[in-house]
Amino acid sequence: MLKKPVVFNLFSAQPIYDFICDKLNYEAGEYELHQFPDEEILFRFKSIVTDRPVIVIATLNQPNSKIMPLLFAAETLRELGATKIGLVAPYLAYMRQDKQFHTGEGITSKYFAKVISTYFDWLITIDSHLHRWHTLNDIYTIPTKNLSASTDIAEWIKNHIKQPVLIGPDKESTQWVSNIADRCEAPYLIVEKKRISDTNISATIPKLDSYVERTPVVIDDIISTAATMIETVKHIQLFKMKPITCIGVHAIFANDAYEKLTQIGVDNVITCNTISHQSNQIDISQLIVDAIKDSGKYHD
Ligand code: R5P
Repeated sequence: MLKKPVVFNLFSAQPIYDFICDKLNYEAGEYELHQFPDEEILFRFKSIVTDRPVIVIATLNQPNSKIMPLLFAAETLRELGATKIGLVAPYLAYMRQDKQFHTGEGITSKYFAKVISTYFDWLITIDSHLHRWHTLNDIYTIPTKNLSASTDIAEWIKNHIKQPVLIGPDKESTQWVSNIADRCEAPYLIVEKKRISDTNISATIPKLDSYVERTPVVIDDIISTAATMIETVKHIQLFKMKPITCIGVHAIFANDAYEKLTQIGVDNVITCNTISHQSNQIDISQLIVDAIKDSGKYHD
C-alpha cells in the first residue's frame, strides 16, 4: 500500500505549507538545519521517510543561497530511503536566460534545469517564464507541471475592477494577458518593450484614447526591478485615465523596487503569493493542492 507522503517546507510561506499538508492530509515533515561556524550546512530529518514519497516545497526567488540546501536536502532524503522526491517551486528561478544574448554568456535556464532534474523526480511550478522555451520539458528531463494563476488573476479582476482594460508590458506577456482578458471579457493591449539594461527599459505603448473610460490594469509574470512596470505606468499616466492597478504573478521586488513603483503613484500593486510579500492578494494554494493531487501518479 502507498505510504502517506511527507512534505517538507524548505523555503515557502508557512500558510501555504500548512494549507497543503492540511488539505492533502499529508504528514508535515520535521527537520533541523544546522549551520556550522564556517557556514557549511547539515540537514537532520526527524520524520521517517524510508519507503515513502516526499515533497519539498521551496519557492526559488533569490536562488543562489537556496540551491545548495535544496540539493543537500534532496540527496539526504534519497539516502534515507525516500521513494520519490518531488519539488514544488511556486516560483522557479533562472528561466529568463533562455538564449545566449551576448557572446560568451551561458544559458543558465538549461543548467539550472539540469541540476534540478538530477536531484528531483518531478516538479510543479506556477507561471514559469516560458518564452523561447515552449515547455519546461524542453530543458527539464523529469515530469513537470507548469500551472497558471490566470484563472485566479481573472477572478480577482472581475471582483475588484469595473470595466478594465488590460495592458501587457511586453510581447512575452501576451500569452497570459490575452488569456486573462478572455476570462474577464475585457480588451487588452501589448506594449512594445526594449530592455536597455537590468534597470533601464524603453516602452512604446499603443494609443489608449478609446479606453480612457476604463481602468488600466498592467499584468506581468515577474516584477523584479519594477523597471518594466514603471516605464509602462509612466506612459499610461499621460492618458489621464483612472488609477492604475499593477498585477504581477511573482513578487520578486529586488531592493527598493516596490517603493519605486508605489512612489510614482500606483496605489494598487497586487501579486500572487508564490513569493511572500505585502502585495500578495491572490492566493494560489488551492492551485498547488489540486496539482499535487493530480500528480499522485508520481508518488509511488
Ligand atoms: C520579462 O520578460 C518578464 O516577463 C518581466 O517583464 C521582467 O522580468 C520584469 O523585470 P523588471 O521588473 O526587472 O523590469
